[in-house]
Amino acid sequence: MKKLPTTILKDENGRDFALTNLLGDYWVLHFYPKIGTSTSTMQAERFNELFEEFDERIVAISLDLPEVIALFKTKHRLKFKLLSDVKMELASQLGIVKNGRLSRSTFITDPWGRIRKEWFNVKASTHAKQVLEEFKKTIEEDLSINPSIFQRRAFRGLRSEPIEDEKLLRLIEAAHLAPSCANKQPWRFIVVRSREYLGKLHEALSGGNYWMKYAPAIVVVYTKDEFDCQLSENRNYALFDTGLAVGFLLIQATQMGLIAHPVAGYDPVKVKELFDIDGNVITLIAIGKWGKFDQLNEKHLEAEKSARNRQELSQIMKIV
Ligand SMILES: Cc1cc2nc3c(=O)[nH]c(=O)nc-3n(C[C@H](O)[C@H](O)[C@H](O)COP(=O)(O)O)c2cc1C
Repeated sequence: MKKLPTTILKDENGRDFALTNLLGDYWVLHFYPKIGTSTSTMQAERFNELFEEFDERIVAISLDLPEVIALFKTKHRLKFKLLSDVKMELASQLGIVKNGRLSRSTFITDPWGRIRKEWFNVKASTHAKQVLEEFKKTIEEDLSINPSIFQRRAFRGLRSEPIEDEKLLRLIEAAHLAPSCANKQPWRFIVVRSREYLGKLHEALSGGNYWMKYAPAIVVVYTKDEFDCQLSENRNYALFDTGLAVGFLLIQATQMGLIAHPVAGYDPVKVKELFDIDGNVITLIAIGKWGKFDQLNEKHLEAEKSARNRQELSQIMKIV
């Protein structure tokens, strides 16, 4: 995604204004080729009317000198900040200058400085309203639960067709991006996808996890206290950090349209022996595509269709 440059412009008082000041919030940046014209005035007035609805997060940029924009601001009682880009530095970086002329453009930026929406050669009369709609929609979408978190389920209806190695690697890459105490990265993964090793691993599964035999890949996850921070009051972070990594893997799998279902129902001694593991095998994760159900028992078939079941928030949290 395109990023807002970190240019330093002049404000209407001639003071430096670094665009990094816009990080951490959503902003609308709109450009005027030249202020004082009837079109620019109309554009400014329309944005000004909606200033509060934009939560006051509007900035205007023009190619005029600071003293010129200061006059324009006073004359039209503009509530938003005006910035001067006399050298077209920002405008050029944003690619809105053609043959020395600036296109009347608008950008929505997000807290990370990413440009989420852009308009070029806009119509001044109706544009501000259109931008407001998009501004609200962008914030609303970002406030919703991440779609992959929402979509993820511990489903069991796995298809046995193989998953490409690149996809399996991508899952591990995502897990490996998890945070860990002092960046110790205590997680260890064995991606099992050969028929030979899958067969041996199946012997370690508990009866209730029969459905995992259809998984084209199973990730063995292990760690060891010594791999991570061991702090006072029994705060050994190996399990915690490895759990975070597993969480990341599950979310990445969901985004990629795959099931990733972690289980605890297996014989850890057998798994340790099979792979000569020195540590705690904390989970096996079945990986595969969804959509085959005839291998499932009735209880599991029902679970595939059931709604997600969670306690009320009030039972697991409080705000003080
Ligand atoms: C540590 C752990 C162990 C689990 N063990 C099993 C298991 O042995 N067999 C199984 O079918 N599901 C297992 N699950 C899946 C959970 O039953 C499932 O995540 C839970 O019921 C919530 O459902 P959801 O993930 O679809 O929201 C396990 C999940 C976790 C995190």
